[in-house]
Amino acid sequence: MEKQNKPVYYKDYLQLNKLLDSQSCKSKEVGNECHDETLFIIVHQAYELWFKQIIHELDSILPIFAKESIPDSQMSLISARLERIIHIQKVLVEHLVILETMTPMDFLEFRDLLIPASGFQSVQFRMIEIKLGLGLKKRNTEFEGFILGRLAQEDRDLLLNIEEDKSLLELIEKWLERVPFIQDGKFDFWKEFQKSVNEMLKSDREIIEKNTSIPEEQKNIQLESLEVTKETFFSLFDPEKYNTLIAEGKKTLSQKATLGALFVMLYRDEPLLYLPYKVLNSLMDIDENFIAWRQRHALMAQRMLGTKIGTGGSSGHDYLKKAADKNRVFLDLFNLSSFIIPRSKLPVLPESIKRELNFYFSENSKIKT
Ligand code: HEM
Repeated sequence: MEKQNKPVYYKDYLQLNKLLDSQSCKSKEVGNECHDETLFIIVHQAYELWFKQIIHELDSILPIFAKESIPDSQMSLISARLERIIHIQKVLVEHLVILETMTPMDFLEFRDLLIPASGFQSVQFRMIEIKLGLGLKKRNTEFEGFILGRLAQEDRDLLLNIEEDKSLLELIEKWLERVPFIQDGKFDFWKEFQKSVNEMLKSDREIIEKNTSIPEEQKNIQLESLEVTKETFFSLFDPEKYNTLIAEGKKTLSQKATLGALFVMLYRDEPLLYLPYKVLNSLMDIDENFIAWRQRHALMAQRMLGTKIGTGGSSGHDYLKKAADKNRVFLDLFNLSSFIIPRSKLPVLPESIKRELNFYFSENSKIKT
């Protein structure tokens, strides 16, 4: 039987009747309609739509990372989807510029009608946080209680349920722990790397010591800070020291995962490591854009409210500013830059590993990886 294809009508396809009939101003309900409340609602709704898309992208990436091994063909898909999230985040930061065309006085016309509702209760925002790795339980019990206490039971249950799943951060950690080639037969990459680092630090020390243009006091400060760099470097290779850093909350990723990430960062020019490097870079972009949004939103809240408390009952700008400083998902990846050394000082990889990290053509021109 032939399929009857009903012509698709734009308005029906996008369910515009439903969508465009979903802006009900509280100020109108109380008989004092405020012009800017429509803008306030539409900006929030646009955010929720983009949050939905970010969750859609994350939900497609997480199961791939959960696999024991990720097929090469899926790495470019992951990379493309992470990049999409990055572009959406940039739009989200820009949205605030539109909302800021509303003045604090205009906002005050309807603000009190919204109490106790707040962006604080955005379940999708919390879902994104949890899926990335900022689980409620991992933050602190006070915070968990504060957030959950402001949500309806069904939303609380939903978030606690999602919290049971592995986050992107946890899956990335497992993936990085599996980075191959680091210890291959007789070749111990980390021993070679430490030799290179020692040489680099030695040459840095000589440069400081030979510098006649700075006073002795400043020289000593520079030498002390070089010692700190040295300590940081070597804590990376000492499992006991590294685990202390984890226990103190100074590191999140396991030592093995950090070393895997560092190897990818250092040998990013090798064809097989390029996509993993791009993925790590995208994760840092996502973290950075999240911070950028939090900081921008905190400033906007300050501009609108000054030192007033938020409609959700927090201390307002002060709470938001702290949230921007504290909530980092992939901070360990940023901190890897402390361990990056110049290309010229990188240990030369044995030919067998180099070959495995390269795409090459066999005699019959089939690509091998
Ligand atoms: C006039 C504009 C806005 C003001 C004055 C404002 C103010 C605030 C304040 C004071 C808080 C802290 C919680 C509270 O006590 O309510 C907050 C939280 C939040 N707001 Fe806004 N907001 C505005 C617009 C937006 C928009 C457009 C979004 C987009 C969805 C948004 C999303 C959020 C989120 C997700 C939180 C929770 C942040 C966290 O806990 O880290 N806000 N907002």
